[in-house]
Amino acid sequence: MQVNKINRSSKWYGKANRDGFIHRSWMKNQGFPHHVFDGRPVIGICNTWSELTPCNAGLRGLAEAVKRGVWEAGGLPVEFPVMSLGETQIKPTAMLFRNLLAMDVEESIRGYGMDGVVLLGGCDKTTPGQLMGAASVDLPTVVVSAGPMLNGKWRGKDIGSGTDVWKFDADVRAGRMSMDAFLSAEAGNSRSVGVCMTMGTASTMASLSESMGISLPGNGSLPAVDARRTALAHMSGRRIVDLVQHGIRLSGILQRSSFENAIITNAAIGGSTNAVVHLLAIAGRLGIDLTLRDFDIGSEIPLLVNCMPAGEYLMEDFCYAGGIAAVLREIAGYLKPAPSVLRQDISTYWQDAECFNRDVIRSLTDPLQAKAGIRVLQGSLAPDGALIKPAAASPHLLNHEGAAFVFETIEHMKSVIDDPDLPVDEQTILVLRGCGPRGYPGMPEVGNIPIPKSLAVRGVSDVVRISDARMSGTAFGTVVLHVAPESQIGGPLALVETGDRIRLNTSEGRLDLLVADDVLAARRANWTPEPPPYTRGYARLYVDHVMQADTGADLDFLIGQDTREVTRESH
Ligand code: FES
Repeated sequence: MQVNKINRSSKWYGKANRDGFIHRSWMKNQGFPHHVFDGRPVIGICNTWSELTPCNAGLRGLAEAVKRGVWEAGGLPVEFPVMSLGETQIKPTAMLFRNLLAMDVEESIRGYGMDGVVLLGGCDKTTPGQLMGAASVDLPTVVVSAGPMLNGKWRGKDIGSGTDVWKFDADVRAGRMSMDAFLSAEAGNSRSVGVCMTMGTASTMASLSESMGISLPGNGSLPAVDARRTALAHMSGRRIVDLVQHGIRLSGILQRSSFENAIITNAAIGGSTNAVVHLLAIAGRLGIDLTLRDFDIGSEIPLLVNCMPAGEYLMEDFCYAGGIAAVLREIAGYLKPAPSVLRQDISTYWQDAECFNRDVIRSLTDPLQAKAGIRVLQGSLAPDGALIKPAAASPHLLNHEGAAFVFETIEHMKSVIDDPDLPVDEQTILVLRGCGPRGYPGMPEVGNIPIPKSLAVRGVSDVVRISDARMSGTAFGTVVLHVAPESQIGGPLALVETGDRIRLNTSEGRLDLLVADDVLAARRANWTPEPPPYTRGYARLYVDHVMQADTGADLDFLIGQDTREVTRESH
């Protein structure tokens, strides 16, 4: 019998008694011969494939490739489904269910007889949800991402998923684009399976998985339909068996230095603001003391990757230019030693890397922007923090003072945003509340409030926008997000009134409501929260326990790990 260091599966399949009979016999109904229960590593393949998550529609094929690798390395692969979250399909917002996916993943891994796990994810919330759940059980783990779609193509031009749609929408609303043109762009946008091919949240999390060494080199950018991604999945199957045999758990890979490297990398690639809540939540599961303030270490890093939404190219171009490895090589001086699933230092990932297109991946001496990353803001409007992505903002608005125009809810905003008489101008600061983790609930990606029609028709393309919401990783604008505490729990955002002066000072990391304390105290005395819209089910659990954005918006009782052995049987 092969000896592996993590052999929890023997508690299921290695017993010469009734329990062993039951565990093995029912598995044999799938045609497994007896010898595969000889103590070899059992590898769970945790799959978020779903036709309702089109971004992850290629994961069935990748699962087969992982299995080949597991068999080849002497393991026993067993695929299992978990909840899938299709960002563009599920209502009210996928973020409401990220923590539910994490619970599903955690309990599936803990409850079944596996020694290691390969996480197959892609669409925005699937990667962080899977990593959060896996981190709490802490078996050996490898991430295999779905990979980006091929470049969108329309009328001879490349178009980026989730990025160009905002421009198309604004053009239709301003009468510059016909509905026929809109629909033909829609068809050219998504030409293959895979995740959004801009540097949105999905490609950000896949790229950060690579930079944190929890996936193999190439995971960040290889297109979904590229045969090399299938080969990567195969090799990940071999790798997870090796990690089990050497007893290297997820927590042995993801360390504080890994997260710091991820923050640096996120800045250099122009990654999504959503990475903040996700990295905070994953770190929280691992007991790593990562705080919102730690994200400031990325704010001095130059933007090197010229991909939408911050730049002009797409993930396919990024892959062919050298991908994450070429970026890591460029920023190596900022990175710290950290482990990887290769059982070598993360520097192995870039030691042979080259850049093949300097327009797509810039050098440190010729960056796209001198300072990128995510700037953490604090001040009287956001005592626990907020953030802005300067790379996606208009430089002239990064330090701006103006009068607020307040939208009470998304519905209020949608009902008046196209009013030609909306009393706003290019100096106005749009404020949207009721969109935080608890308020919406689920913290939807609505922070990039559309430009009011009255401004759009005059050619105004950006104004300062502030909310307790998130923003799609594919969106852009001078948008302040994740204001904490959120309005629903009485954060100062709840007290803002139209006409109040607000000052955004990105240079100094400040966000202030310029209203006297006694005025705010009087408003607070009259303020009452809206009752939560959910009274039962998971959404009720979520509303009762979700934490604020500055700590990752996990459920309070899911923080940390539970790696205890499950000893009770049902038979
Ligand atoms: Fe799934 Fe963008 S909607 S990755």
